[in-house]
Amino acid sequence: MGDQLPYYPMHDFGPLMKGLVIGSLGILHVFLAQFAIGGGFLICLLQRRAMQGKSPLAREFIQKFFSVLVLVSFVLGAVTGVAMWFTTIQISPRTIGVMVHEFHWIWAIEWTFFSLEVTSGYLFYKYSSRLDDRSALTLAGLYALAAWSSLFWINGILSWQLTPGGWLDGHNVWSGFFNASFWPSLLFRTITALTIAGLSACILVNAIPGYSREDRESLVHDCSSLLAPMAAMPLLGLWYFAVIPADSREWVMGGSMPMTMFLNLAVVFSGLIGGYALVGLIRQKLFINGATATLLLALAFMATGAGEFVREGVRKPFSIREYLYANSVRVDEVAYLRREGSVTHDPYPVAEPKGGFPTDQLRHGAGVFRFQCSVCHTVDGTNGLLPLVQTWSNTQLRLNISQLQRTKPFMPPFAGNAKDVEALVQWINWNRSDAPPKWGISQDAAILEEIQGYLDEAGVVPGSNDPTDAQVAEVRS
Ligand code: HEC
Repeated sequence: MGDQLPYYPMHDFGPLMKGLVIGSLGILHVFLAQFAIGGGFLICLLQRRAMQGKSPLAREFIQKFFSVLVLVSFVLGAVTGVAMWFTTIQISPRTIGVMVHEFHWIWAIEWTFFSLEVTSGYLFYKYSSRLDDRSALTLAGLYALAAWSSLFWINGILSWQLTPGGWLDGHNVWSGFFNASFWPSLLFRTITALTIAGLSACILVNAIPGYSREDRESLVHDCSSLLAPMAAMPLLGLWYFAVIPADSREWVMGGSMPMTMFLNLAVVFSGLIGGYALVGLIRQKLFINGATATLLLALAFMATGAGEFVREGVRKPFSIREYLYANSVRVDEVAYLRREGSVTHDPYPVAEPKGGFPTDQLRHGAGVFRFQCSVCHTVDGTNGLLPLVQTWSNTQLRLNISQLQRTKPFMPPFAGNAKDVEALVQWINWNRSDAPPKWGISQDAAILEEIQGYLDEAGVVPGSNDPTDAQVAEVRS
């Protein structure tokens, strides 16, 4: 393994937690992308209704809807998509590396569909008004199919991160791609896409000037049928939670308060939208005004956000379950790093504070923090390490850091030796003493031995949220 273990230059986002940077951008991107996918289906539906003579305004509305879609989703969607690549390679380069390495052909296929989506979408935007009805429907169908297919392909890779299953032995691409959460996740996302497009259309119907109340009612009625599949969401959600790993499920069932709350929010928001859509819009054929539609779309955004947060959160401490930890250390590398040291081969110098570090040990500690902790913790901003350990004694620090996976099982095991732990402890202490210009060196053999004992006791396997372990963690902190 030795020098081959990859280290990457890491970007520091200051007080912003790296995971949150990806998360917020990801949520925005997913929302826009799903709008584009659902939009394709909406256009096909309206085009068909126009051809059947059931919706006289549909043709004109399609044009207006699609110009919004092109503007919002092609521009913002594409910009946030590229931004996702740029942030992930700075924050989680190794995860992206594995994804590209294992699934390059899948990415290539996904990209061809994305190209087809953009090309057919642009042709539709530009020329559909000059086409006859059947050709316009074919072009819209091509767009919808291409947009949905890009979801199909990317969904396999995203769901594989949480349920890699059979891929773990043998790295077979297809057993990774068609993993346990592939179908529930694909169907769930498809329905979300339809919902977002349906609600956006209802806003637009109200925003276009010159329509009469009857015009708007008939269009709202057409568009809201896109919300009908929401009825299947509860079942798909249950299916999803049945196939994800048991400990991930534990997180959202009380194991982690934020996870549980976010899941509940996602469920309540989706329930509100679904209830309004199925009972009000579809059964009672109620009208929806622009303000209400906007409110529901905002709820849909928050539900998507909470859902994505949970999906990312329940994977902890892994970025690819049972294979790669969120801090880019592979599960089978921890034992090696315990012997070799966490940052012995890290070629990238850490950023020096003003006046520099007083000792090499502190510099070393800063490196250990950057390599192992900084993907989830900032120093004293979001999920800041210093506030979390404010009241801890040195012994608590040494014990809880050495046994990180027992302290909180959503953290990976400590991937370094006793000197790394002590350097980190010294760096924490130096920081919480307001970074004085002079600082001693801690190299007492008895302390290092004590730390080694803690490390050995915790071992190199990930933690579990088995209640007995949680009690241990509670007693410790
Ligand atoms: C996979 C993400 C992740 C990584 C990597 C990670 N942590 Fe954490 N850590 C968390 C989360 C999430 C919490 C919970 C914060 C809270 O309870 O508010 C936490 C909590 C803690 C706590 C407080 C525990 C308690 O019982 O109150 C300490 C101390 C800590 N982390 C230290 C570290 C150190 C040191 C490293 C690097 C060696 C590290 N963490 C790496 C996610 C991570």
